[in-house]
Amino acid sequence: MKQQSLAKACILSVLLMGSAAAQTAAPTPPTAGTPSATGTPPAASPPSTFTPTSGQSGKDVVWVPTQQALVDGMLDMAGAKPGDYVIDLGSGDGRTVITAAKRGIRALGVEYNADMVTLSRRAAEAEGVSKLAQFVEGDIFKTDFSEATVLTLFLLPNLNQRLRPDILKMKPGTRVVSNTFDMGDWTADNTFSTPGSCTSFCRAYLWIVPANAAGTWRLPEGELTLTQTYQTLAGTLNQSGKEVPVSDAKMKGAEITFTAGGRQYTGLVEGDRMRGKVDGQDFIAARSGG
Ligand SMILES: C[S@@+](CC[C@H](N)C(=O)[O-])C[C@H]1O[C@@H](n2cnc3c(N)ncnc32)[C@H](O)[C@@H]1O
Repeated sequence: MKQQSLAKACILSVLLMGSAAAQTAAPTPPTAGTPSATGTPPAASPPSTFTPTSGQSGKDVVWVPTQQALVDGMLDMAGAKPGDYVIDLGSGDGRTVITAAKRGIRALGVEYNADMVTLSRRAAEAEGVSKLAQFVEGDIFKTDFSEATVLTLFLLPNLNQRLRPDILKMKPGTRVVSNTFDMGDWTADNTFSTPGSCTSFCRAYLWIVPANAAGTWRLPEGELTLTQTYQTLAGTLNQSGKEVPVSDAKMKGAEITFTAGGRQYTGLVEGDRMRGKVDGQDFIAARSGG
């Protein structure tokens, strides 16, 4: 089943890349964008008759819209709510940004194609959400998206992986949702599939940016040494000279949970401090050298 979905994602990815390659053969270069978070309007507007076509060229990937049911599912899975800041990288016709804005959430679309930016702004205006829904013409690889609390993507696996180092530097707890394409060896925290008769681009992945918990921590009970691979932790607790293994250890944003010496720890990692509860009792730990 998993292999089938993977094969399907690969085929879809090849289709998207194929269209992108075709566009390289006959390019219509879009106007270079100005990477800023202010949504500066383009110098000249395209005619209001501009109609986008699914599969049309894009800088690094063609435009194919996310189906509305999946847009809704992605925002739901991310737990997006007023107070969040959603950024859609490669925002196409603006549907994800406008959907977020209609939920009362401030949102920004970054899109290379100037015509799509103008189209998105017009759509936001028509929906009465242009204060919350902003669009900037720019290259996602030259735009600072670090302020987002929810990041949405419908790109390609290699583009997700190019973005991954910057995504991992984002504030712990930032939710990242991607239509169809994964993040390589960074396993998703959750998935959502469009219910019903969806045939293509029907599944989305969620990752929660983990805080950095790797290193050695001074706990009241002894020294805790953790290694970290994305949200997964492993390690040992040195109790009076005896190494006990750490199990069920993971991060969810800044939240840490692990079991050691038969006791369950839950807490928060804030820089070089960890605080939380073990068996109902408060604990505080400091990272060695921190
Ligand atoms: C598959 S579409 C997704 C559109 C929208 N996010 C959605 O889910 O409906 C990808 C979009 O990324 C845009 N794009 C491609 N490369 C880009 C780049 N380097 N910077 C900004 N936008 C880009 C394309 O023009 C296209 O609109």
